[in-house]
Amino acid sequence: MISLIWAMSEKWLIGKDNKIPWHVKEDLLYYKEKTNGKTVLMGENTYYSLKGYYKNRPLPYGKIYVASLSDNEFIDAIKIDDVISFLNNNKEDLFVVGGASIYKLAIPYANRLYISIIKGEYEGDTYFPKFNLDDFKIISKNETEKVIYYIYERNDE
Ligand SMILES: NC(=O)c1ccc[n+]([C@@H]2O[C@H](COP(=O)([O-])OP(=O)(O)OC[C@H]3O[C@@H](n4cnc5c(N)ncnc54)[C@H](OP(=O)(O)O)[C@@H]3O)[C@@H](O)[C@H]2O)c1
Repeated sequence: MISLIWAMSEKWLIGKDNKIPWHVKEDLLYYKEKTNGKTVLMGENTYYSLKGYYKNRPLPYGKIYVASLSDNEFIDAIKIDDVISFLNNNKEDLFVVGGASIYKLAIPYANRLYISIIKGEYEGDTYFPKFNLDDFKIISKNETEKVIYYIYERNDE
């Protein structure tokens, strides 16, 4: 099972200066509940972004895969230089946690999408890549004052 999880504005914004453009605590708690201890795949930029948020504390995942084409080493993660063959051969319960370039590669492999729509207007530089949401059906929707939480599943599942 491959799940993608992300938070975006109504205009599909997801990032600003390699950070999240908003601070919405309830969505962070939701994200933590879904991903704590899980096997995750992320891009190198997102890895460094998370390291900035967590400072010296360990990232709160289980096994961490980092997609990178650089020479950098990641002491707490397994480096992946071919995301497509990694996803093709994946047998794990995997959460793809960003950012934009890794979501784009992973969308065709996604069984499930956890999308938080953050209400309001925000500025930033990174958007979720356009894809056909009609390939997925809503299996859960929860709305609060600040966020709409959707879970989608691929139509043929
Ligand atoms: N709102 C959310 O839920 C959410 C979640 C996660 C991240 N974000 C935001 O998204 C932004 C970061 O996104 P991003 O697209 O810049 O970075 P990213 O996806 O985190 O990382 C990109 C990295 O992946 C590498 N890469 C690209 N294609 C690859 C491949 N086929 N195999 C292996 N490695 C590959 C790139 O290498 P090269 O540079 O060498 O090409 C680059 O180092 C930040 O603003 C972050 O805060 C938001």
